[in-house]
Amino acid sequence: MSGSHDTVLVVNFGGQYAHLIARRLRELGAHAILTSPGRFSEVLEGGGRVKAVVLSGGPMSVRDLAGMSGVCNEVLGSSLPVLGICFGHQLLAICGGGDVDGCEGEFGRAYVRVVRDDPLFKGWGEVEEVWMSHRECVTSLPEGAEVLAVSGRGYVAAFRLRDSLVYGVQFHPEVRHTRKGGVLLRNFLRLAGVELSWRPANILEEILEGLRKELSGFKGRVVAAISGGVDSTVAAALVRRVVGDRLVPVLIDHGLFRDGEVEEVVSLLKSSGLDPLVIDARERFLSRLEGVEDCEERRRIIGEEFAAVFKEVAESLGDVEYLVQGTTYPDVIESGYVESADRIKSHHNVAGLPEWLGLKVVEPLRELYKDEVRELGRLLGLPKGIIERHPFPGPGLAVRVVGKFSRAKLEVVRRASRILEEELRRAGLYGDVWQAFAVVGDDRWVGVKGDSREVGYVVTLRVVSSEDAMTADWVRLPYDVLDRVASRITSEVEGVTMVTYAVTPKPPSTIEPC
Ligand code: XMP
Repeated sequence: MSGSHDTVLVVNFGGQYAHLIARRLRELGAHAILTSPGRFSEVLEGGGRVKAVVLSGGPMSVRDLAGMSGVCNEVLGSSLPVLGICFGHQLLAICGGGDVDGCEGEFGRAYVRVVRDDPLFKGWGEVEEVWMSHRECVTSLPEGAEVLAVSGRGYVAAFRLRDSLVYGVQFHPEVRHTRKGGVLLRNFLRLAGVELSWRPANILEEILEGLRKELSGFKGRVVAAISGGVDSTVAAALVRRVVGDRLVPVLIDHGLFRDGEVEEVVSLLKSSGLDPLVIDARERFLSRLEGVEDCEERRRIIGEEFAAVFKEVAESLGDVEYLVQGTTYPDVIESGYVESADRIKSHHNVAGLPEWLGLKVVEPLRELYKDEVRELGRLLGLPKGIIERHPFPGPGLAVRVVGKFSRAKLEVVRRASRILEEELRRAGLYGDVWQAFAVVGDDRWVGVKGDSREVGYVVTLRVVSSEDAMTADWVRLPYDVLDRVASRITSEVEGVTMVTYAVTPKPPSTIEPC
C-alpha cells in the first residue's frame, strides 16, 4: 500500500505527539508513517516515495543528545524538505551549527508574531494563537538561517535554513489549539510537493488489492477473530469481500465481555452478513484467570487460550490456513514495534501468536488509525452500532479488574460499566467520548446500607476523550450525570459502597488501569 503514495516520514523522538502529527498529515491527504531515529536511513533506502520529513517533539533535551546529530545529519543529507517541531526544531538548529539553551519556558496557549513573509505561513495573520510546551529555546541560529516568527517571550518560534525547505517551529502545529496549525502543515506539504492521495476510498481499494494478492491461490477457509469492536469487524468485512463465504467469523466468548454484549454484537454482525460462530469458552478462560494478579500474566494467559481455541476451531474446520486480526497502527507502535518506544503494555493481538497455532496472520488494518478504520467501516456499509462502538481491549474486562482476579470483582465491573454506558447514552454523551468504563480493585470503603454497616468495593469510573488512544484526557462529565451513575451503582450493584472518578490524563497515566 505504502509504495503507491507520496510519503512523509515522521521521525518519532518519543514525544506523545508523533502519532498526532501523522494523523493530521493523513487528514490532509498525505500518507504519513512513523519511524524511529535509528531506522531513518533504512526506511528511506527501503524504497517508497518519501517526499518530506517531519521531526517530532520528544521528552529529551537536545543538549544531552550528542548521538542525535547522526540522524539529524542523515535527514539534512537527504536533501528532503524537513519540518522540525519542538524538539525537532531545536535539533535542526544544533545540527545546522546553532545553539539551544534552557529558557523560561512556554506551556500551553501562547502567541507568536510572524516577522517574515514566507510561504510556510501563508494564510496566517501577523499574530496567531499557538500551543507550546518547552523549557529550552533556540538561542543562536545556524549561519544564514532566517527567523520567521518569534514567541510572546521573544524566543525564536520558527526559522528556515537558507535556500532550502528546512523549517523549524517551536510550537506544535498538530495540536488543535494552534489555530492555524492545519494551514501551516498544508503549506509545508504543498511546498514539499507531496501528492495528497491518501483518501479512504483509495485506501479501501488498495487494501482489497493487497488482500487479493496475499490470499491468491488459497482455496481454503479463513477464520476471523471477531470481538464486535470496530477494528476486528472491519478487518473481517474486508477479507469477506475477497474470499466471500470462505471467511468464518469466530466470536470467542471468554466471559470477559460487557453485560449483554455478546447478544448485541451477534445481532449487529448478522445484520452485516457476518454471522459469527460463537464459542462459549467462558469456563476455560475464567478458571485460568482466577487469582492471577499480574495483568501482563493475564494477557499472556488470554492470548494463549485464544490461540488454543482457534487451533481447535481451525482443526475442526479442516482447511484453514489464515487468521484475520484487527491490529491497527497504534497497536503496532505501542507494542514496541518501534525500537525507541518503550513497551507499555503487551496488547496480546500483536504480541505474536504461538508458532504451534500453525496459522498465518492477516492484518489488513496494520497501517491505519482508528478514524480511518471507522471511515472504511462506513464505506463498507457496516452498521452504526459497530462503527461508533467504543474501543474495547482484546482481553476485555480482565484489564479492568485490579489486584487478584476474581469472578466477584468481574461481575461488579460488568454491572457498573453497564450502568455508566446506559447513563451516558441517556444523556446523549456516549458518542462524544472515546471510552467509558468501570474499574474495581481491592480497596474497601465502609458504607451504610439500610441501618447496617457494609464493607464494600470502591468502583472507579474512567471516561476519556482521545483521538487515537496514544494520549487521552478525562472527560468533564456534568455533575448530575456523575451523580446518577454513582447512585445507581451503589444501589444496584451488590457489594459497592463508594464510586470515584479518575481524573488523570494519559500520559502520565494510561487509559486502562493495568
Ligand atoms: P492504554 O491502557 O495502554 O490503552 O492506555 C490504549 C488503548 O488500548 C486498549 N488496550 C488494549 N487493547 N489488548 C487490546 O487489544 C490489550 O491488551 C489492551 N490494553 C489496552 C485500551 O482499551 C485503549 O483503547
